[in-house]
Amino acid sequence: MKDNHLNKNIILIGMSGVGKSTVGRHIANRLRVKFADTDDIIISKTGETIDCIFKQYGEDYFRNLEKKVIKDISKRKGMVISTGGGVVLDISNIYFLKKCGVIFLLHGSIDTIFDNIRPTMLDNNRRPLLKEGKDLKNRIKELYLEREKLYLTSADYIVNVDKKSTSVIGEEIISIFKNLYSCS
Ligand code: S3P
Repeated sequence: MKDNHLNKNIILIGMSGVGKSTVGRHIANRLRVKFADTDDIIISKTGETIDCIFKQYGEDYFRNLEKKVIKDISKRKGMVISTGGGVVLDISNIYFLKKCGVIFLLHGSIDTIFDNIRPTMLDNNRRPLLKEGKDLKNRIKELYLEREKLYLTSADYIVNVDKKSTSVIGEEIISIFKNLYSCS
């Protein structure tokens, strides 16, 4: 099987700030396959920012859009897919993602997530849930604890991202994937 004929998708899940999109792009470039970010699809379909969608229509509305995007994208194969941090909240998302690919959880400490998110927090319009509350680190902790079990049970593989470069993380995932599907 050739790299560009992958039958399954490589799917990245995890909290905001663990590097899903950056790592996903790296993997897609290396394997010369397509990359999709489900938040980007929602933004381009609606023509609105994620902040706006949450503010105007509420979280449930966003989750429904997310659900539709996941269902649609699960019909495709041979891609790298980066998902929004809340994708695990709906069990049907995980059902569709598992059917079409291998789910990698990017797992980082609260400090790693905080350090990655803090510099762009002010001009970022994609993470309204992290703007709730006064203290960013506490909010990250709170969201993580709410979801920890869901992340761990949804993942086929868990990849730690602490103190690792994008390429180290990406290569780790590629190596696991290649071993599974001997696609080199
Ligand atoms: C969310 C994470 C965001 C985005 C939306 C909701 C979440 O994506 O989907 O703001 O519930 O954790 P990132 O994980 O790319 O930040």
